[in-house]
Amino acid sequence: MVRGSESAAAAGPAPLIWLTGLSSAGKTTIARIVSGMLRGGGFDVQWLDGDMMRERLGRELGFDKTGRDENVGRIAYVAALLNRHGVIVVVSAIAPYREIRDEIRGSSPAFIEVYVKASLATCERRDVKGLYRRARAGAIRQFTGVDDPYEPPLAPEVECDTERDTASACAQKVVDTVMEMVSRGRASRACAPCGSAAPPAGGPEMHDGSIEACRRPSA
Ligand SMILES: Nc1ncnc2c1ncn2[C@@H]1O[C@H](COP(=O)(O)OP(=O)(O)OP(=O)(O)O)[C@@H](O)[C@H]1O
Ligand SMILES: [Mg+2]
Repeated sequence: MVRGSESAAAAGPAPLIWLTGLSSAGKTTIARIVSGMLRGGGFDVQWLDGDMMRERLGRELGFDKTGRDENVGRIAYVAALLNRHGVIVVVSAIAPYREIRDEIRGSSPAFIEVYVKASLATCERRDVKGLYRRARAGAIRQFTGVDDPYEPPLAPEVECDTERDTASACAQKVVDTVMEMVSRGRASRACAPCGSAAPPAGGPEMHDGSIEACRRPSA
């Protein structure tokens, strides 16, 4: 973990961390811990939770694909604005459709997709908000995993298996990936003298800010 007041703005593009998964899989639980850990490390962090974002920005939207994609698009828009100012953004929102998640990946300079994985049976057993029960009773329609699709990520940056690992272990895995990305951003920034975007194979310690250092052959 980076200490002190080192900010994400000084370390390359600020990451957008998107936790996707079924309802009750553990997105909010893990996002809360991740946000706290990153803040404790001195980063500017904004957590955008799906429930709150729908309430504030997507209240009129439905739960069909168009409505869900629009809701996700609005969250991504807010995230991009914050990222632009060097703020690390943690989103916990189901975002059930792969295509829109991939679109966000394409437009975000530092996207970390976190698949918060738990079987439908486990999620139904947890049923934190009682929504599965209501969906099974027919009181709610278009509920993800029951009568609406969920498309799991095919190649997420992080996979958190919340049936196997504790919430803290899952959060640590996410934070480790964020820190790797931040270090890479810092390393590539150090390459500016030679104009190369990639750090040398020898690692960031090869850089001393001079063109010679950047051109130095690595072992
Ligand atoms: N390893 C774990 N990681 C996260 N949550 C866990 C884990 N193990 C058990 N849980 C429990 O699972 C539940 C997950 O609820 P949470 O509200 O985080 O789900 P969610 O994915 O945000 O759901 P929703 O989409 O409905 O908001 C909590 O009660 C949490 O304590
Ligand atoms: Mg939640």
